[in-house]
Amino acid sequence: MSDLSSLLINQTPDMGCRTLEMVTQSSFKGALSKTEAAWAEAVGFSGKKNTLCPLPGKEGAVDRILVGMGQSKPSETDPWWLASVVSKLEAGSYRVTGVTDAAVTAGAYGWCLEQYRFDRYLSDVEKKDRVLVLSADSDTHAVLHAVNGAALTRDLINTPTEHMGPADLQDAAEKLAETYGGQCGTIVGEDLLEENFPAVHAVGRAAGVGREPRLIDLTWGAASHPLITLVGKGVCFDTGGLDLKPAAGMRLMKKDMGGAAHVLGLARMIMGAKLKVRLRVLIPAVENAVSGNAYRPGDVIATRKGLSVEIGNTDAEGRLVLCDALALASEENPDLILDFATLTGAARTALGPDLPATFTNSDSLWEQLEASANADHDPLWRMPLWAPYDKLLDSEIADMNNIASSGQGGAITAALYLQRFVRDTVTWAHFDVFGWTPSAHPGRPVGGGAQGLRACFSMIENFISEKVGKSN
Ligand code: BES
Ligand code: MN
Ligand code: ZN
Repeated sequence: MSDLSSLLINQTPDMGCRTLEMVTQSSFKGALSKTEAAWAEAVGFSGKKNTLCPLPGKEGAVDRILVGMGQSKPSETDPWWLASVVSKLEAGSYRVTGVTDAAVTAGAYGWCLEQYRFDRYLSDVEKKDRVLVLSADSDTHAVLHAVNGAALTRDLINTPTEHMGPADLQDAAEKLAETYGGQCGTIVGEDLLEENFPAVHAVGRAAGVGREPRLIDLTWGAASHPLITLVGKGVCFDTGGLDLKPAAGMRLMKKDMGGAAHVLGLARMIMGAKLKVRLRVLIPAVENAVSGNAYRPGDVIATRKGLSVEIGNTDAEGRLVLCDALALASEENPDLILDFATLTGAARTALGPDLPATFTNSDSLWEQLEASANADHDPLWRMPLWAPYDKLLDSEIADMNNIASSGQGGAITAALYLQRFVRDTVTWAHFDVFGWTPSAHPGRPVGGGAQGLRACFSMIENFISEKVGKSN
């Protein structure tokens, strides 16, 4: 799995590296000697955004490169501002001048992730590391935890289902636990019935040998710290089940374990940074497959919480596997439950690919999330748990249906479904994410994408300091 740690280092006194001199259109000439200014003019450099002008140094070698920023300097908190420069550079190490250290540290995130490649299946990979040198007192570790968390999320999503089935998700969770000194236990196959996870079993039971449904349970951290439970939808492939998806709708469904990939990425950030929390990560991992023993439309299945659920549509499988995991999470009364899921097409229709639809039963949690999302340039958008729609989930023959009787407001009714399985005394947020970058942006190639992780990480940091503040 990707580790981008070598792309970022702290400066040491004798370090030789090239300088990227960030300049604006209006001011760059002031920083140059007469010869340099003439050179810049001769090669047509005017400080335009993302244009480069290498300056010849001693004996003709390049040790300074002017980099245009256009009219103005970047925001000091924008993680992506530096990313578009990276691909224009040769392999080597670089330091950045002309902007504040804070701006460079923020941009270091995008610098690293711009160099992320999913190269597992490529036979010929060119290695071209561009290393960013940060000032001696910059916190490279903090940046790298976030970078490697996002890279893990991307790797897991990008890996095709053949190599990212339920057992592979289990492997990934076990590896993380081992790396950071956590524990990981998993309940597999028929044992799910024994241990009362009937909905996880019903959805996943049609998958092949070795690909049995399972409930992955990773724990980490000291018992004295606040308990945060992360729940991630781990549908390794979503065919739609017997309510089969058409080809276009199925094409990207290797990414339907994106929720699991998000919580594992966030766990990597939290454990790497040694946040003072007790962490639990629950992943119901299944394939929503078609077979003779697949669950059917019209079936009534049991759930861990005891609510019976009529199956209106086997393609609304995410909420089924999540509801058992959320019920388990609630039993422990954690301080916070966060769930991530590629849950509905409706969330995408409403908000497009980039904005995670965020639902929470706590206004104050939303305030913290919104503040963190804004500060980190990691957007989240709140949607309502609109209580009057709850009755749309009623069923004639069971306690509830897995789909709403109206197709409208589908992201909301899915969230309301989940809410029925979360204890209302527990603070909870649900993120309906796309988990995919459909068109490339600097630092974000087409493919698996991490959304909301940095915002959640910052929110958790604040959440801890408030908890500690209150208990003192
Ligand atoms: N995994 C899909 C949701 C999805 C589809 C997310 C495309 C992102 C892109 C989910 O399991 C699903 O199929 N949801 C259905 C629910 C419906 C049957 C109530 C949907 O959104 O159409
Ligand atoms: Mn589905
Ligand atoms: Zn799904």
